Amino acid sequence: MRYSEELVEEVRTRNDIVDVVAGYVRLQKRGSNHWGLCPFHNEKSPSFSVSGPKQMYYCFGCGAGGNVYTFLMNYENMSFPEAIKVLADRAGVQLPEVEDGPETGQRENKRTRLLEVNKEAAKFFYYQLRTPRGTIGYQYLQKRELSDETMHKFGLGYAGKNGEELVQYLRGKGFEDELIKEAGLASHTERQGLTSQFWNRVMFPIQDINHRVIGFGGRVMGDGTPKYLNSPETPVFDKRRNLYGLNFARTARCGNIILCEGYMDVIAMHQAGFTQAVASLGTAFTPEQANLLRRYTENVLLAYDSDGAGVKAALRGIGILRDAGLAGKVINMQPYKDPDEFMKALGKEAFQERIDNAENSFFFEIRILEGQFDMNDPEEKTKFHREIAKKLCEFSEDVERDNYLQAIADKYLIGIENLRKLVNSYASQTGLAKPLERPRTGVHQKSSPEENAKKSQRLLVTWLTDEPALYGKIKKYISPEDFTEDIYRRVAERLFQDLEEENFQPAGIISMFEDENEQREVAALFNTSLPQLTTGQEREKAFHDILFAVKKNSYEYYTGQLGTDVNALKQAVEGKKALEELAKTHISLD
Ligand code: UTP
Ligand code: MN
Repeated sequence: MRYSEELVEEVRTRNDIVDVVAGYVRLQKRGSNHWGLCPFHNEKSPSFSVSGPKQMYYCFGCGAGGNVYTFLMNYENMSFPEAIKVLADRAGVQLPEVEDGPETGQRENKRTRLLEVNKEAAKFFYYQLRTPRGTIGYQYLQKRELSDETMHKFGLGYAGKNGEELVQYLRGKGFEDELIKEAGLASHTERQGLTSQFWNRVMFPIQDINHRVIGFGGRVMGDGTPKYLNSPETPVFDKRRNLYGLNFARTARCGNIILCEGYMDVIAMHQAGFTQAVASLGTAFTPEQANLLRRYTENVLLAYDSDGAGVKAALRGIGILRDAGLAGKVINMQPYKDPDEFMKALGKEAFQERIDNAENSFFFEIRILEGQFDMNDPEEKTKFHREIAKKLCEFSEDVERDNYLQAIADKYLIGIENLRKLVNSYASQTGLAKPLERPRTGVHQKSSPEENAKKSQRLLVTWLTDEPALYGKIKKYISPEDFTEDIYRRVAERLFQDLEEENFQPAGIISMFEDENEQREVAALFNTSLPQLTTGQEREKAFHDILFAVKKNSYEYYTGQLGTDVNALKQAVEGKKALEELAKTHISLD
């Protein structure tokens, strides 16, 4: 551990979460919570709540949640040490120098230094572009129809023909050769020593969502190869988890994000006013990037090249988006190759029309599939229909599958009953696709018995958090062992101990967990919607039901573990007793 738990708590309690979040999100007070539009997903009416008493935030729409640290880490993409530093500064708390373990300290320091050296390099390229020797780069970008404003917005630059200048400049700023190399900015040659990796190229700094330069792409100004040279992966440059342009796109809020293939596409789109455009970083689109996008939107429009490679990449992208629970659509760029060319030729109104008419990704897939068969040959046509049926089986939800089935039958003039039979026969051969696992808690959840059990546990924790005085009345019936979900039990252990000591800080419990998904789950535990009941009697009954459900689930759980878990017998026996007693006990909420 880096900082002591006391210090982490001190910094947390001295930064009121409502104040901190209000710096980013417009909040309105309603009841004991503040509400606003969730910054982690796109929405039109507020489901994002910030609780002063609990010092937590939670979104009832997307399940994002946590304490003030989690908020900064997610919103600003900070690491924990970065977040605590910001909050300590904000509250005027002095952090000890390196209470970090030597390793964490070095790692954080390395990241910081890499970001610094990248920033200086970006400045260097930026100024070079604006000197006489950079004219060639400047003219190239002008020829690509980029305005000065656009060049400035994206921090475009130029790496000159003298490969030693960059190195000298960076050394002059106090960066060691090792670091310059590790950032992928320069490498050693026999003849010249350390020289710039980028030589006579226009430079595209790649920024993370906080506008920090994490790497570079450099383009040749003619037909040389490689067309783009990119920085290697470094501790700050993770190509799988960042997207070009997302630092601007994430605040565009137009209900969708447009995913393009290239840097130039993104820039051309932004220049035309489509500030929701992003691109992957010289590599194929990844599931990690899809998860990242899901924080900002549910609708992703693919604006990939219209050539064969682009179509193939789009088909892959559609699958990845679907797995991440995002709805994908495909923008038709024909007869142009990519958004950049399209924009130059037809302009933004025409592009907006293409956005409005973007094709449902399933229809796109089927249309591409169609191209592989000769529809004049009955044999081929039959194969095509079989392929359609197979693809339809991938929809796990009956309604959705049937809607697509009807639409496709209409579109391709297939007898609907025939197609349905085909689908059913494939379904029985292979089984329908299993429902997607949605990693986020709170969305699209099915009410399985297991989910119901978890829900009662969440309700109980939330209720106890809202009314800590109840703890004294129920502690004889319930213990942390009754929380059958591992993470819930860990929370309950700490919560019960804190309640026992009458010093209870739910937001502090979140800091016990390091993983972002765990923090989110813990926040959900404290923020479940309690039943809205008015009469005392109704409330008492609801509370009793929840308590009983938690205990019953626990009893069943341990009964099932008999023989495999040494504690199970004891828990089951006690559980049974507690249940019997609870059944005839009235617990007053007053
Ligand atoms: P494109 O070849 O479509 O380039 O590659 P582009 O972005 O449209 O650029 P212009 O319009 O030709 O100038 C798409 C993306 O693939 C990666 C880059 O991220 C590029 O933006 N790429 C391409 C490379 O990393 N290296 C290459 O050599 C080529
Ligand atoms: Mn292009």
